Amino acid sequence: MRVLIIGSLAGDLGQAARIAIARGATIEQADDAVAAMARLRADARLDIVLCDVAHDIAALVSALAAERLVVPVVACGTDADAAAAVRAIRAGAREFVPLPPDPDLIATILEAAAGERHTLVARDPAMLAVIRRAEQIATSEASVLIGGESGTGKEVIARHIHRRSRRAGGPFVALNCAAIPDTLLESELFGHEKGAFSGAVARRIGKFEAAAGGTMLLDEVSEMDVRLQAKLLRALQEREIDRLGGSAPVKINVRILATTNRDLTAEVARGAFREDLYFRLNVVAMRMPPLRERPGDIPALAEHFARRYSELNGVPCRPFAAAAMAMLAGHAWRGNVRELENAVHRAVLLADGDQIGPEAIELAAPQGGPAAAHATAAPGRGGEAMAGPPGNGGGNGGRERGRERRRRRRGAGRPAGRGGRARTDPAHAGPHARQPHPRRRHPRHLDPRAA
Ligand SMILES: Nc1ncnc2c1ncn2[C@@H]1O[C@H](COP(=O)(O)OP(=O)(O)OP(=O)(O)O)[C@@H](O)[C@H]1O
Ligand SMILES: [Mg+2]
Repeated sequence: MRVLIIGSLAGDLGQAARIAIARGATIEQADDAVAAMARLRADARLDIVLCDVAHDIAALVSALAAERLVVPVVACGTDADAAAAVRAIRAGAREFVPLPPDPDLIATILEAAAGERHTLVARDPAMLAVIRRAEQIATSEASVLIGGESGTGKEVIARHIHRRSRRAGGPFVALNCAAIPDTLLESELFGHEKGAFSGAVARRIGKFEAAAGGTMLLDEVSEMDVRLQAKLLRALQEREIDRLGGSAPVKINVRILATTNRDLTAEVARGAFREDLYFRLNVVAMRMPPLRERPGDIPALAEHFARRYSELNGVPCRPFAAAAMAMLAGHAWRGNVRELENAVHRAVLLADGDQIGPEAIELAAPQGGPAAAHATAAPGRGGEAMAGPPGNGGGNGGRERGRERRRRRRGAGRPAGRGGRARTDPAHAGPHARQPHPRRRHPRHLDPRAA
């Protein structure tokens, strides 16, 4: 976990830094937003920015957005300064941390930013077999293609492979190919030199270089445009890349994992995916079984999520009543683990009494049926099976297929190729853009939403 602190480390921020270091974080420091932007451009592996409210957070957040740098900004300021807290949140800060810092709050924020949502829970024999296979191949350098329906845990297993690999000490860098328009995807992958296209105000290294010595996950690789597939293939074959606008190739050292929730062989058959790239990626194939094929995982996952969301929301962790667990066990889970996660998160918030009872369990209606009276917008990333209009959610919930989305964009006459002007669209920040923290722990009077 790498933290960039903007401001002086002499006072309370220094204490926040020491707490973060004690939790295993690496700290970098910048005196101001300009220096911070330079660090962020140069290092795609910074996970979070802690910024003193004395700095112009609005300018920082818009500079990040303009350059499509996705990193959460957390504002820090004195506990008593409620107005500064409100300004910071309005300016786009993810959180406000009152100073002097509370160690638990720092830990929670770091955990959320690190995306430590990647615990792998498994009990069902079908899932245990998948994990055995993953661990068998983890130490090799082989590319792995991970298939499976949305929300089954493809990214979770990819991270597990990385953790068990010889590259575990190196970075794990994920790139969602569906969430980013083609022109931006190319520079995300390969990086660019200053002036390579309009908007390229400074050199920026791409994910291939950011992942040096580690693992790169190409999420939803089937959504990659055919022209870019050729460039990717070349990079994998030659083990080198060209930054956009660069004059000399750069050696790369990454292991590639890829996920798809389409049938890639069918994509190859219809000419939408290069066969040679398919064979490159599919050295080892893995398939994440849908939750309905591993019912033995449901109670363990439900209890795991109940613990997690109780803690994150500061509510007591209650056990499930038998009737509530029976509802979970009997549901169809078209959104798979993600849908279960959202249902349990909701249940944790709705429950009162000693247990999580059936009244706290709100499930989406069966497919084709009317929307459940209770179905509500999912609190986290919306599962596809949740009720509500498509494309409504943050993250990739209610997902709109990337390729269709892009086709529409092209149809709209958007210039293709390097010269295409980058648009900043929060909808394309992708699932790796961090989700808003479900709880603000700072006192209610500091919470602008409490107003
Ligand atoms: N075995 C598991 N144990 C704990 N949490 C899990 C597990 N599998 C999935 N999850 C959780 O479920 C959610 C969805 O998982 P993940 O993002 O890995 O799915 P995915 O298959 O990549 O989905 P998509 O196709 O939509 O990208 C995440 O919040 C993840 O942490
Ligand atoms: Mg995924």
